[in-house]
Amino acid sequence: MRSVGTQSDIDMRADISILAVDDDVNMLAMLEKFLKRAGYTVDTTSDSMKAMSLVEDKNYDIVITDIQMPRASGMDLLKRVKDLQKDTMVIMITAFGSVDSAVNAMKAGAYDYVSKPFNIDEILALLERATQQRRLQREVEFLRQEVEQKYSFANIIGKSKPMQDIFSLIQRISHARSNVLITGRSGTGKELIAKAIHYNSDRKGMPMVTVNCSAIPESLLESELFGHEKGAFTGAITSRRGLFETANGGTLFLDEIGDMPLGSQAKLLRVVETGEVRPVGSDEVKKIDVRVIAATHRDLKEMVKHDQFREDLFYRLNVISVHVPDLKDRTEDIQILTDHFLKKYGEQFGRQNMQVTRDAMACLMRYSWPGNVRELENVIERSIALSNGEAIDSKDLPEHLFQMKSTDLIDDLASDNMPLSEVEKRYIMKVLQRTNWHQSKAAQILGIDRKTLYRKIKEYNLLQG
Ligand SMILES: Nc1ncnc2c1ncn2[C@@H]1O[C@H](COP(=O)(O)OP(=O)(O)OP(=O)(O)O)[C@@H](O)[C@H]1O
Ligand SMILES: [Mg+2]
Repeated sequence: MRSVGTQSDIDMRADISILAVDDDVNMLAMLEKFLKRAGYTVDTTSDSMKAMSLVEDKNYDIVITDIQMPRASGMDLLKRVKDLQKDTMVIMITAFGSVDSAVNAMKAGAYDYVSKPFNIDEILALLERATQQRRLQREVEFLRQEVEQKYSFANIIGKSKPMQDIFSLIQRISHARSNVLITGRSGTGKELIAKAIHYNSDRKGMPMVTVNCSAIPESLLESELFGHEKGAFTGAITSRRGLFETANGGTLFLDEIGDMPLGSQAKLLRVVETGEVRPVGSDEVKKIDVRVIAATHRDLKEMVKHDQFREDLFYRLNVISVHVPDLKDRTEDIQILTDHFLKKYGEQFGRQNMQVTRDAMACLMRYSWPGNVRELENVIERSIALSNGEAIDSKDLPEHLFQMKSTDLIDDLASDNMPLSEVEKRYIMKVLQRTNWHQSKAAQILGIDRKTLYRKIKEYNLLQG
């Protein structure tokens, strides 16, 4: 018999759990003996129905099963395992000469097969290969988790400097009760940050109440926020507590504060200043202790200038300000966010270990993400749903990611004080994108030769985005 390796090889195999299934009890006993001798942790059963319930209870690394068995077949078991735990490797034992069943098993996701009568060395070699692969998978999973822990905070992922700064700010202000204003374009993660602030504060045991100021009509907003007395207005059949009171002791999150009408702003200001609410139609005021976190995608300072937002309220809310930059201005976060969403949706779709090809990643890095992280999340979800294999390729990405909007470039130029080299870098990138990375076409459009283009691609690091 083939060597099973050194004692330490044998010892190390104990972390690999194997389920062996065969209705031929003699065969099964022999298999068990050899696998145990090699050091594996082994369960066996000659009853395929029992095997079905065993794989439900325990996550095996490897399942070895005969195909032809009474009751449930090896194919049934394979399908069950793949439904439950996609990473488990299944090795099929096929009858001599039954090529068809081996092919079917491989198509259904089997790791490999051996045909009867098999020699034990063959099985041990196969297991050794599966074991190596399994360890590698575990290591990748471990590293992914480690990276994710390092660069995440309360479900927020980000390794870029601005995101790291936001994480440390959230920690620093956990004991303060100062109001917070979070600004940033749509989909940058403002709500996520508001939640993180609350759930990392001393107030986490008390409620966090969210109000979307743009979704509530002006006529209802005040009674929603401050409550009302019975009969305060038509339809006020009973008295009702306002959301400020509901959030007492905790946090009130005023989302889309920029959409709050001026009249309501005045009333909100009074509450924020005095810490007292007066329900609509009531003479009594109630003392409350609420931290206000407000968020908006609008430019409140600009609105103040145009008398669309009260300056005094702006300063009351903006005691601590958090600005979340656009995703295109923190491209370091794109890879790690992509990994995070691959994992999230991969699990939801039962497709663990999804990857993104280099080509597709380059495209994600180059795109301008007007919808920010929300758009990236949607793109990854959709691409996983549409792709067949283990990896998302650029062909699985939506068409518009490759198209170039002429306004992007002009806007960027106008809004930032951009050095000439940055302009050149961006323009080259756009042209490459438009030509689908056809370098000679791109060079022609740019009016430079291919060598120069190649040098610039390297110089600006465009291949990695
Ligand atoms: N840094 C991040 N890490 C992980 N997920 C994120 C991150 N930023 C945003 N998301 C996800 O993107 C989506 C949009 O985030 P969120 O609702 O917080 O954005 P928003 O800034 O409030 O957008 P809007 O202005 O449109 O309301 C959510 O599904 C959120 O979980
Ligand atoms: Mg939001």
